[in-house]
This record gives sequence, structure tokens and C-alpha cells, in this order.
Amino acid sequence: MISLGIDIGSRNTKIVIWDNSQKEILFSAYTATGVIIKETIDALLDKAGNLTSSIKYSCATGYGRKMYKEADSIKSEITCHAKACHMLFPQARTVIDIGGQDSKVITLTEAGNVEDFIMNDKCAAGTGRFLEMTANKLECDISELSDLASKADKEIPLNSTCVVFAESEIIGLLAKGEKPENIARAVNNSIAKRIYAQMAPLNWQAPIVFTGGVAQGSDLVHCIGKACGHELHVPFDPEITGALGAAILAF
Ligand SMILES: Nc1ncnc2c1ncn2[C@@H]1O[C@H](COP(=O)(O)OP(=O)(O)OP(=O)(O)O)[C@@H](O)[C@H]1O
Ligand SMILES: [Mg+2]
Repeated sequence: MISLGIDIGSRNTKIVIWDNSQKEILFSAYTATGVIIKETIDALLDKAGNLTSSIKYSCATGYGRKMYKEADSIKSEITCHAKACHMLFPQARTVIDIGGQDSKVITLTEAGNVEDFIMNDKCAAGTGRFLEMTANKLECDISELSDLASKADKEIPLNSTCVVFAESEIIGLLAKGEKPENIARAVNNSIAKRIYAQMAPLNWQAPIVFTGGVAQGSDLVHCIGKACGHELHVPFDPEITGALGAAILAF
């Protein structure tokens, strides 16, 4: 039994083709979410070639899930991230998902069901947008930020609670000669502080799984882990976790 999971995120669209009898991912891919959702998904499916003919069911999730009418079913991102994280880390009790434009913290029961969640989609400061702006100001690629931050030799505070003000603060720090590595670490610590504050109203507990595209940043994984007092578990390819959950839930 083969299924297709599609996560139409505000920044990237991800697909996973899942073999439910072998419990194995047969194919995964992602690309930037385009204006015409069907075109974005068709382009990803093209890459999967002949495999698409064996897909029995499909399920869409993510911000744009209702815009893809071809899916057999739709599920919320909370349900999909929870499902995949429970499968990958059966002991997981808390899931943090940080994407390009929002952040979510989900608590799970011992059986892996969603217990509660808090979503922040009002403020960019705890999301990938903050990292994208930082990479732009530090003139590097977002994938280089973690390496940079790991070379920090000083913990400096970043006082702005908003990405727009943080941009001015970063420009000011650079003008004063602050090292890019210390700024990159300060941004990660600032995101970690925000996520920890977002978790506070929830009755969260470890083990904690960190998913979403932003979980690719190993220094941020370290900073959030430090803020929570627990080491975080990160799936092999954290960006596709939501799509994997959708593929599992397609049956
Ligand atoms: N190497 C990296 N390190 C840290 N962050 C990264 C890296 N590569 C990409 N990102 C961030 O991950 C984001 C994409 O993640 P993801 O696909 O989970 O977002 P999304 O699902 O589209 O957004 P949302 O869930 O907010 O709707 C990018 O916009 C970028 O900010
Ligand atoms: Mg997402």
C-alpha cells in the first residue's frame, strides 16, 4: 500500500511517497511553494517518475492544504507532525516545529496522540524568517549560519523582540565591528528564548523532537536544547516530517 503525503507550507512544499507495508519512504522532494499550488506539486511528482502510478491514497497538510483539491484527504499540520514524530521517536512527548513563517509546540500523550498545542503565526521572531533576514544581513547562506554561530567566542544579547527591529540592531552591531559569528549565535539564542517562552503555558515534558526546515540548523538545535534543559531529537530530514505524517495518515 503506497501513499502520498503533501505538506504545502507557507515557504516550501514537500512530498513524501510512503510504502506502508514496508514502513519505508520511497521518495521525498521539496521546492518553494509557488502561486499555483497544483503546478508546484505536479513539478515534484514529475521527479518521482513511475512511482506515482502506484500511489493509492493522498493526504495534504500545511498552510495551503485546502488549495489542493486533488488530495483524497486533508489533515492539520499539528496532527501530521505529531504522527510522524511519534513513529520516528515513539517515546516523544513534545514536538517543536519551526517553519518559514510560524512555530508550533505540540504535547503528546504517552500513546502519541496530540494532547495540546500552541501555535505562533503572529510574529516572525521565532521562525525561519528571522534566520533568513540574519543570513541576508551577514551575507551568507542560511545553511551556513549554524557553522558560523558555532564559532562564537562571546554571548551577546539581542534585545529586539521583533524581526524588523532586530534587523536594525544587527546592522548596528555590524557597524560597531561585532563578529558575524557572535551575531549568528545571538539570533539563535533569541529564537531559543522565544520558543522556550512559547512552551511555558503547556504541560510539556521530554523527550522533545524538533522538526521543520529550521531544525536543519544544528547550532539552533543546541541553543533550544540548552534553553529547555534537554537534548532535542531531530529526524533525519526534518523538513519532510509533516509530509511524512500526511502520507502515514492517508490510509
Ligand atoms: N540549513 C538551514 N538551517 C536553518 N533553517 C533553514 C535551513 N534551510 C532552510 N531553513 C528554513 O526553513 C524554512 C522552511 O521550512 P519549512 O519547509 O518547514 O517551512 P514551511 O512549512 O514552508 O513554513 P510554515 O510551516 O511556517 O508554513 C525556510 O524558509 C528557512 O527559513
Ligand atoms: Mg510547515
